[in-house]
Amino acid sequence: MSYVKKNLDNHKMNAYIEKAAQLLRQGKLVAFPTETVYGLGADASNRAAVNRVFAAKGRPADHPLIVHLASLSQLDEWAQNVSVDAIELARAFWPGPLTLILQKKSHVLPEVTGGQDTVGIRIPAHPIAMTLLRLFNGGVVAPSANQFTHVSPTTAAAVQEELGDKIDFILDGGECKVGIESTIIDMSGNEPIILRPGMISAQQIAKVLQRESVAIKQSSTTRVPGMHAVHYAPTTPAELVDTQRIPALLQHKEYAFITHTVFDAPSDVTIKNLTKDPVHYAHDLYRTLRELDHLPIKKIIIENVPNTPDWEAIRDRLTKATSALTV
Ligand code: TXA
Ligand code: MG
Repeated sequence: MSYVKKNLDNHKMNAYIEKAAQLLRQGKLVAFPTETVYGLGADASNRAAVNRVFAAKGRPADHPLIVHLASLSQLDEWAQNVSVDAIELARAFWPGPLTLILQKKSHVLPEVTGGQDTVGIRIPAHPIAMTLLRLFNGGVVAPSANQFTHVSPTTAAAVQEELGDKIDFILDGGECKVGIESTIIDMSGNEPIILRPGMISAQQIAKVLQRESVAIKQSSTTRVPGMHAVHYAPTTPAELVDTQRIPALLQHKEYAFITHTVFDAPSDVTIKNLTKDPVHYAHDLYRTLRELDHLPIKKIIIENVPNTPDWEAIRDRLTKATSALTV
């Protein structure tokens, strides 16, 4: 497995991406940058390649994968009975951080959809991803390029750390712009429902659909051992704590902190202040969790974020990252 550094000129960049497309055609696993997080790509029509994705990630077979496409004109090859509303969303937000759950075409492999009759589709907005998908000219499954339950990678180095010995190639596109995974909306039934909040908000979606609101499915955060409650989680225990409880905890040198409020902390305490702007916060969150995870600390304390719609996706990820611990 190898990954080449960026700063290639245009010609070399195209050859670099063409090599990755060729590997996909051969059924190999190629990690690539998207605007949200890095994906672990494989040919969505190649059963053996799709199975290797599950094996590399240690992911249970009933967790369906998102099929990534280069253009809206390919949608008909993968989905059927696509509603006018779904097309409206695709036109408004693609290429971009939105995944549509649609009724699948019968040929779509059950391995891709976890045996369901729906398929997740996304056209990503990253230039390297777009070139790769255009050159490959087919559907590419791409779950986040991390071990199952771990934090999604937002750099090529993080992919290397998660999956380096298990995959064939990593395309390095620098740091991902959005920083958390796409918004997933189920458009396969009568009512749209958001299955995973993301930086495209329920309000933005409602506006395009000319509705007052769009429902967000409450994610299961039950703390049941052995279930899939722990997701997007660092390996160091992490705990979500209300702002007023932080000052007392800052006395613990064996803890590290992620905050958005500025605290008067002792100088030897590790504290990462991620702005009060949710867009920047999302961009920095996974990189920061990963950095802190490398430190010899006992716990990561995360300051609770505002209970407002613009923090919805971040609240969702923080709840999942901390769901193994009772506060
Ligand atoms: O931003 C993203 O979406 C990234 C980048 C690489 O595109 N991908 C990503 O994939 O986050 P993954 O596999 O880590 O998460 C996909 C989620 C899973 O929770 C899966 O259950 C859900 O999408 N999903 C996929 N197909 C589905 C379907 N047919 N019905 C319901 N949920 C589905
Ligand atoms: Mg994932």
